[in-house]
Amino acid sequence: MCGIVGYIGDKNAVPVLMDGLKKLEYRGYDSAGVAVYAEGKVEIRKYKGRLSVLEEHLDKEKLSGNLAIGHTRWATHGEPSDANSHPHTNEKGDIAVVHNGIIENYLKIKDFLISKGYVFKSEVDTEVLAHFIDYYYEGDLAEAVRKVIKKIKGSYAFAVITNREPDKIVCVRKENPLIVGIGEGENYIASDIPAILKHTRKTYLMGENELAVITKCDIRFYSENGEPVKKEVFNVDWDVSAAEKGGYRHFMLKEIHEQPKAIKDTMTGRIAKDSDAIRLDDIKLTAEDLARFGKIFIVACGTAYHAGLAGKYLIEHLAKIPVEVDVASEFRYRNPLVDEKTLVIIISQSGETLDTFAALKEAKGKGARILSVVNVVGSSIARESHDVLYTWAGPEIAVASTKAYTTQIIALYEIALHMADLKGTLSKEAIKAIKDEMLNLPAKIEKALGNKEEIQKFASKNSGEKDVFFIGRGLDYAVALEGSLKLKEISYIHSDAYAAGELKHGPIALIEEGTVVIALMAQHELYEKMLSNVKEVKARGAYVFAIAKEGNREVETIADQTLYIPEVSDMLSPTVTVIPLQLLAYYMAVEKGCDVDMPRNLAKSVTVE
Ligand code: F6R
Repeated sequence: MCGIVGYIGDKNAVPVLMDGLKKLEYRGYDSAGVAVYAEGKVEIRKYKGRLSVLEEHLDKEKLSGNLAIGHTRWATHGEPSDANSHPHTNEKGDIAVVHNGIIENYLKIKDFLISKGYVFKSEVDTEVLAHFIDYYYEGDLAEAVRKVIKKIKGSYAFAVITNREPDKIVCVRKENPLIVGIGEGENYIASDIPAILKHTRKTYLMGENELAVITKCDIRFYSENGEPVKKEVFNVDWDVSAAEKGGYRHFMLKEIHEQPKAIKDTMTGRIAKDSDAIRLDDIKLTAEDLARFGKIFIVACGTAYHAGLAGKYLIEHLAKIPVEVDVASEFRYRNPLVDEKTLVIIISQSGETLDTFAALKEAKGKGARILSVVNVVGSSIARESHDVLYTWAGPEIAVASTKAYTTQIIALYEIALHMADLKGTLSKEAIKAIKDEMLNLPAKIEKALGNKEEIQKFASKNSGEKDVFFIGRGLDYAVALEGSLKLKEISYIHSDAYAAGELKHGPIALIEEGTVVIALMAQHELYEKMLSNVKEVKARGAYVFAIAKEGNREVETIADQTLYIPEVSDMLSPTVTVIPLQLLAYYMAVEKGCDVDMPRNLAKSVTVE
């Protein structure tokens, strides 16, 4: 991952970069640095630690210049340290590079450069880029970069400046995001739009293997072979405030509360009260296509994978097509049985997750049709797919995914209903009934969000716990996996989720006096079975926090604490059931004083294997 920002113009670039890097800190935050062209020299400042460390240094030793590149890092090669931070330079220090991604053959290139007398200062792959550009430099920076990208392997986005040509930034992109912001007499580059949104809404989205040469007044794009590339301007139509905290203490809490609006946006134009049809104009699946697909794969990572588990249930249940769900990092290495008769649904908030993108390419290479469910418009996964269904959740900044998950599930309902409609597996009336209920989900989620007291009480009592177990059946099990992931990633409390029927096959051995068990009981059909499972763990001394639907009161007599969620049909319940679990993870993390938005060891967009 990592975040890149660059500026060229008449302003002092340093505040522009620092502001942009703050917006990108979610992409990595173990070190940060800038390279600024000032008084004929490229000046570097880079430090291990959060961006605030760099900021403190820049406050003390003022630095100013009109051309600069900056970086916020998430370590891959080499531990977080000042030396391993970006920017990296050649030996003379007159070529500076910031990089996101991995240069896979860097050791071979490093050996070659050492044999030519180059001396390395860090352990990171990026440093080879600076020396390699120096090696090829013959008076034209873009030409030297072009020669380098012919030799390097891996995935990357990187930007270079040099005092030999202080009128430009040269940058390239392969499998990692990079955009160019268009100003007047000034231009920008960034890994993501929020970093430059304060300055411009007009952008270019760089394509795969494209190289850009950016000066104050000109932006040119080239293919890897040096041919000029013409590009359309992409106008950003969402607001800068959408990428800021809006009065909430954390981005995560803000994003949890944005869910009613986010899922409404996912349905807008696709599902309407007064029509039976479901309009998915963005995807071009026909009844013939569906008849051809013997099987569907859903492939994703982390939270998106959990949304996929719910998607399997929905598609199989409504459209009667067999679905296999795979973790992307496994799918790509297990030689899956995929061919032109397969539909692969790829789910990704960022659209940049490397494992997911690689799985997409693997499946596409075998002839599969790719339908992706993506949040970030113009991202790599969106661009490489045959069809894209955007979730329209708006920017998700907190590392822990919340609104991306619920909107992904809504998008999967839309796909399942569309397929059921095309295949005729559901009557028009049945589709309309589900659609009408979906349109009520924002109000139900709003109601669930209003019910925090019981959760805060639970968090203040239990935040010192070392282990928490989540149990559920059917769709509740898929949601339990997500609740467990949320809790562990932001509160660092160990937790596991089990299909409640599996307890007696092993995990129940872990239950002892006081063990905390969160029991999801939102599936009417499985409620009685869950009551028995709750009794089983209670009998071994567990402290049970039950989450049930309004009206199901027997559980109160068994559980230690019960939280009710609004009544919703079993199939549509995940987007409502997950709300208390997101809040529970949030309040547990706050009670423990954890950094909710930027949990340790994690980054928002995982663009490394
Ligand atoms: C967890 C979380 C991650 C992501 C995963 C996939 O809260 O955010 O598990 O869901 O890294 O990311 P995307 O959806 O961007 O492909």
